[in-house]
Amino acid sequence: MNGYRFSTHAEVEDVSHFHSALCQPNLLTFGEYYGVFFPTSDSIGWYTTRPGMDPQLCQAAFFEEMLVSSLFVTLAPMRLGAEMALCGFIDTVMTHPSHRRRGLASTLLQRALAGMKSAGADVSLLYAAHEDPPGPSENMYQGLGYSIHELVVRFVKHPPHMLETAPAAPIPPDDIARTAFTAALSQHDGWIDLDDSLWRWRRLQRPLQYPITLHKTSGGALCAICSGELLAAGRPRPVTVLSDLVLPQHIREEDALGPIIAAALADAPITAFSPRSNLSLSRRLRRLAFEPVATEAAMVRPLTQTGVDLLRAPRRDWYVAVESIIGV
Ligand SMILES: CC(C)(COP(=O)(O)OP(=O)(O)OC[C@H]1O[C@@H](n2cnc3c(N)ncnc32)[C@H](O)[C@@H]1OP(=O)(O)O)[C@@H](O)C(=O)NCCC(=O)NCCS
Repeated sequence: MNGYRFSTHAEVEDVSHFHSALCQPNLLTFGEYYGVFFPTSDSIGWYTTRPGMDPQLCQAAFFEEMLVSSLFVTLAPMRLGAEMALCGFIDTVMTHPSHRRRGLASTLLQRALAGMKSAGADVSLLYAAHEDPPGPSENMYQGLGYSIHELVVRFVKHPPHMLETAPAAPIPPDDIARTAFTAALSQHDGWIDLDDSLWRWRRLQRPLQYPITLHKTSGGALCAICSGELLAAGRPRPVTVLSDLVLPQHIREEDALGPIIAAALADAPITAFSPRSNLSLSRRLRRLAFEPVATEAAMVRPLTQTGVDLLRAPRRDWYVAVESIIGV
């Protein structure tokens, strides 16, 4: 490929300049995509400290020293059936619009696949916008050996959120909270080992722009609420994202989810994700006026025979790691 230089993120010398550059193609490329969080140098800087993100595996392409394509790779143990498999998570795959269809993203992905395999990963996972028929990114990933493992529906509830319920009280981001989320979600496929470093990164070391609060209702529902600006239809807009949502089965959605909605920003749309296979969660979200707006495909690729075997295991509920979809 004439004129292009490929490197890992680890080989980049001026990191802060590189973080600003990452925001620029990101803005350009994701501007029309529904729902990536508005990136700044600060938020990208935070994101690159994600536990397991390995700059030696993250890839970039430059044209005349301008960053034109990039992707992030994170290695972390992820549940698949009874096992915790070492997984290579790929996200924020982007190519500058003027340099597309020249094989840049696929070259970076091939380099990342080789790196993840050498680092001992058994599987790789990424999320792609899912359309029918499949769109460009889904096609590209399929061509590289990824296949759809689960579909995740993105729901949005538009304001005004008229609820008479009292807001769910915030709980401190301490070990008690961590144990509660782990007990409720850690047997789901896709769960990422919530060790000290991941807990700190997700809950305590937030970028100023995207604070998170944790909530628990009297009925035992749990949720993380993040407020910030989402890049929707080309410009930043205020939004609230619910993640790690745990709704006990035995209570009505008004009682389980109502206090969580009441704890979110009153005048911003609320986003929540539900695996398509989780019919109960999807139904409960719909009952409280959440509308499906998009679907993401969780795509996996085995990297070893162990990975092939693990991906054949009977499916469990799916855990949506929200940072892998929208970067918060
Ligand atoms: C998706 C994206 C990363 C592809 O980058 P790229 O450098 O142009 O990709 P490549 O040139 O390596 O394309 C590889 C293959 O993907 C498919 N593809 C990529 N863009 C396509 C398009 N616009 N239409 C149809 N197929 C496309 C093709 O099969 C292509 O192979 P081909 O050119 O030999 O037909 C780029 O379009 C982009 O940045 N989009 C916006 C951000 C985004 O959606 N990222 C993905 C997040 S999951």
